[in-house]
Amino acid sequence: MHSRTLLITGGAGFIGSHVLRLFVNKYPQYRIINLDALTYAGNLENLRDLEQAPNYAFVKADIRDAAAMAKIFAEHLPDGVIHLAAESHVDRSISNPMAFVETNVTGTVNLLNAAREAWKGKFEGKRFYHVSTDEVYGSLHDGGFFLETTPYDPQSPYSASKAASDHFVRAYGNTYGLPFVVSNCSNNYGSHQFPEKLIPLMIHNLREGKPLPVYGKGENVRDWLWVEDHARAIDLIFHQGVNGETYNIGGHNEWKNIDLVHLLCSIMDRKLGRASGTSAKQITFVTDRAGHDLRYAIDAGKIGRELGWKPGITFEAGLERTVDWYLANDPWLQAVTSGAYRDYYAAQYGKQG
Ligand code: NAD
Ligand code: TYD
Repeated sequence: MHSRTLLITGGAGFIGSHVLRLFVNKYPQYRIINLDALTYAGNLENLRDLEQAPNYAFVKADIRDAAAMAKIFAEHLPDGVIHLAAESHVDRSISNPMAFVETNVTGTVNLLNAAREAWKGKFEGKRFYHVSTDEVYGSLHDGGFFLETTPYDPQSPYSASKAASDHFVRAYGNTYGLPFVVSNCSNNYGSHQFPEKLIPLMIHNLREGKPLPVYGKGENVRDWLWVEDHARAIDLIFHQGVNGETYNIGGHNEWKNIDLVHLLCSIMDRKLGRASGTSAKQITFVTDRAGHDLRYAIDAGKIGRELGWKPGITFEAGLERTVDWYLANDPWLQAVTSGAYRDYYAAQYGKQG
């Protein structure tokens, strides 16, 4: 008999697979359902080690399908939702914004409606946890950090769609009393990240001897967090966070893109036995991303003070582990970079990258 049922959406993706691994192993007493549509970014290979776990089940479904969401809630009666399913890549949101409206906004509202209907005002012991991004706060140009109270100022179709979904979650809390928590996290890195995002894309291209496409001058700054530290924060917030609250999560770890790419080059020189400076020759500056946010940086003081969370490993150690994982899992990388990935890559980088 399970003590509770959790519905985790987007569990076949990058962060979702780490959250599932943590929860399935740590909470054998819970029944944990992974709801995922298996888009290009979702891969059940990411969860191979959990398939046989008695407390784990996978349901293939699309959050854009309201009827399917209602049916899944009626069938499985989850008392907690951790919502990660989303279209997550800024560059794709620039070429196809509607997909982001449909999944991130409509899909989230479909889930909110299904929870509201299934819980029918009996909210005791229920929780809807919405996983969001620091990008909703916009771009920092003059120093400072994003706080939970920083006004929303999204600048890309991706961040606008995430901001809209955050607003809907809070509106359902205010209007219907739905118990919710929201977290806004900085850039994650680690194993199983789809190689359209900066770090795995660079590792893949370094290995293949292909150009390393740095947007603009590489001056943009991101605050990088080890994905397993994010999963630990999600666990803490889900279990100990206060209803109606927002928690910012970040790595206290700001890097200019160009410095990060140089660090990756030096790690790869060492790992691949290349002479120092060889990999850096692959760096290629390409046309900047439209509307490229200059800097993101999180003040993670609240989650530290209130829930005792802090990042667990240094960036150098995390990057080392990340590179090792990609080098040891070449079949995974080859599988996800075949077929549709090639079309995406050609459309995104053309002859530049
Ligand atoms: P991802 O793109 O790797 O995975 C997304 C998952 O959602 C995939 O498994 C995909 O199949 C699934 N999905 C997409 N559309 C769906 C739909 N319509 N119905 C059901 N499932 C669908 O994303 P990620 O990087 O793991 O991000 C997960 C969440 O965390 C997102 O909500 C994202 O906004 C947020 N986030 C990501 C980062 C980051 O650095 N990656 C940082 C902060 C917040
Ligand atoms: P990304 O991983 O797409 O995350 P986000 O845009 O959500 O922060 O990109 C991280 C940074 O790296 C961002 O400033 C854009 C830059 N970038 C490149 O310079 N080249 C690339 O090929 C990619 C994918 C990103």
